[in-house]
Amino acid sequence: MSIKENLKKLEEKTKEAEGLKSEIQHQKGKLTARERITLLLDEGSFFELDSFAESRFSQFGMDKKRVAGDGVIVGFGKIDSRQVYIYSQDFTKIGGSLGEAHAKKIVKIMDLALKTGTPVIGIIDSGGARIQEGIASLDGYGSIFKKMIKASGVIPQITVIVGPSAGGASYSPGLSDFVFMVDKIGQMYITGPEVIKSVTGEETSFEALGGSEVHSQKSGCCHFRFNSEENCFLEVRRLLSYLPQNNLETPPIKKGLFSDFFEKENLELSNVIPDKEEKGYDIQLVISEIFDKNSFLEIHKDFAKNVVVGLALLQGEVLGVVAPQPKVLAGVLDVDSSDKIARFVRFCDAFNIPLLNLVDVPGYLPGVDQEQAGIIRHGAKVLYAFSEASVPKVSLILRKAFGGAYIALCSKHLGYDKVITWPSAQLAVMGAEQAVKIIYRKEISAAKDSKKERAEKAEDFKKTLSCFEAAKMGQVDMIIDPKDTRKVLQEIFSSLKDKREAKVSRKHGNMPL
Ligand code: HXC
Repeated sequence: MSIKENLKKLEEKTKEAEGLKSEIQHQKGKLTARERITLLLDEGSFFELDSFAESRFSQFGMDKKRVAGDGVIVGFGKIDSRQVYIYSQDFTKIGGSLGEAHAKKIVKIMDLALKTGTPVIGIIDSGGARIQEGIASLDGYGSIFKKMIKASGVIPQITVIVGPSAGGASYSPGLSDFVFMVDKIGQMYITGPEVIKSVTGEETSFEALGGSEVHSQKSGCCHFRFNSEENCFLEVRRLLSYLPQNNLETPPIKKGLFSDFFEKENLELSNVIPDKEEKGYDIQLVISEIFDKNSFLEIHKDFAKNVVVGLALLQGEVLGVVAPQPKVLAGVLDVDSSDKIARFVRFCDAFNIPLLNLVDVPGYLPGVDQEQAGIIRHGAKVLYAFSEASVPKVSLILRKAFGGAYIALCSKHLGYDKVITWPSAQLAVMGAEQAVKIIYRKEISAAKDSKKERAEKAEDFKKTLSCFEAAKMGQVDMIIDPKDTRKVLQEIFSSLKDKREAKVSRKHGNMPL
C-alpha cells in the first residue's frame, strides 16, 4: 500500500473508533475529551501535542489494546486570546486511567506552562491509577503532583471534574487552585463504594460519597458547581478573565469604555444596616453596591456560607473580597470558613490581587464542637494568611468587629494598610451585653433590678466600643459616609498600587495546616 492509502486507512479507522467512543460518552450524559476542549477554548485555537504517545506496557502484552495518545489529549490553545495549557482525559480509552505515558504527557505540558508562565487546566474523567501498569502509574501521579506543587503560586491551576476522579486522580484537584464539578457526572473519591464496604462495612453510592453536592457543601473540595458541562466551561473562561497569567503579572484591567461616566454615590448603603443590632442582612447587597455591576464572581459559594469570598471589579480593577455574611450564623468565623478564607487569601496574595475585607463579624464561633474540631488550628490559618499577605490589604468595618475576628480581619497590627469604618462601627473584645455580664457581675447581681442594671451598664459600655474611640488611638484611619464607599475605596487602592513589602529571609514559615 502506498503512503497515501495508508494514511487514508488510518484516518478511516480513527474516525470509526472515535465515532463509536463518542456515542458511549454521550449515552452516559458526558461530552468526549475532544468536545470539551473545543467548547472551552477559543475557536480553532487548540494545538495537540503527543497524540502518538503510547504506553510501553502494551508492547509487553500487559495491555494489548491500541491506545494511541494513552487516554489523554494534551496541548495548548487560547481563552479570550490568552494562552492556556490543557489536558483532557479520555474515559473511552482504558477508563481514562493514568499510566506512565499518560502522566508524561501531562508533566510535559506543565513544564511548558511553567516556562511560559501560562495557566493549566486539567479536565478529569478517569478511573485513577492504571492498575495494569503497577507502580509505574503511581509514579506517574507522583511526578504530576511534584510538578503541580512546583507550579503552585506561579501559574493558576484549574481542574474540571466531569467524570470519575478516582483514587490518585483526586489529588490533582486537591492540589489545584480551583476545582469545578458538574452535577451527576463528576464524582471524586479516594476509595470507591465497593472498597469502603469491604473495609468498613459502610454502604454508600458514588454520588453520596463524592458527588458535586457533597464536595461543594460539605468537604469544601469543590469551588464551583454546575448543572451542565457547557455552563461549567463558560465559568472557567470567566474565572480566567480575572486572573493574571502568572505570579509576575498583575490581573487584567476590565474597565469599560465609559465607566467613568457611570460613577455614582452609594446612597443605598446608608440603609443597609438594620436598626436592630442583632438583626442580620445580606452582605451581597453591600457587595453589589460597591463593585462594578455584576462583576462579583463568588468562590466556594455553597461551602461555609457564613463567609463570602470572591473576585470583584472596582472601576475595572480586580480585588479579592472577604466578607462575613451576617444573615448566616451572624457571619461568625468557624472551622470551615477559616479554611475558606485562608486558602482564598493565599491565592490572591500569590497572584498579586489586592484584598478588601467587608467586616461585620461577632467573633469566632464558641462551642465544644468547634473547639474539638480545632478552631484554634483553623482560625490561626486566617491570621497567618492575612499577616503574610503582602498585596495591598484594606479593611472596611460596616457594623461590628469583635474579638479574635477583629484581629484577623481588621487589626492594623496584623498589617492592614488601611482600616476604615462606617460611623456605625463598633470595635471591641466582645459585644457590650456580654462584656458587662463579666466585668460588672457583682454589681449586677447585687442590684435590686438586675435586668435594668445590666441594660444600663451595657448602654453605657457601648459608648467605649465606638469606632470614634478606636480612631482616637489610630487603629482606624478614616471614618467615612457609607454613600462615599466606592469612591473612597477606589482612591485608597489607587494610593496602594506601588506598595512594596520586604520579605524576611527564611526557607519558609510553618503555617498551621
Ligand atoms: C485500568 C481501568 C481503571 C483503572 C477503569 N478502567 N478504571 N483500567 N485501571 N484504574 C477500565 C475498565 O476496566 C473498563 O475497561 C473501562 O475502564 C471502563 O470502566 P468501567 O468500569 O466499565 O466504567 P464504569 O462502569 O463507568 O465505572 C467507572 C469507575 C470504575 C467507577 C471509575 O471503572 C472503577 O471503579 N474503576 C476503578 C477505580 C479505582 O479504584 N481507582 C483507584 C486506582 S488506585 P473495559 O476494557 O472493560 O472497557 C489509585 C491509586 C491511589 O488511583 C492513590 C491514592 C492517592
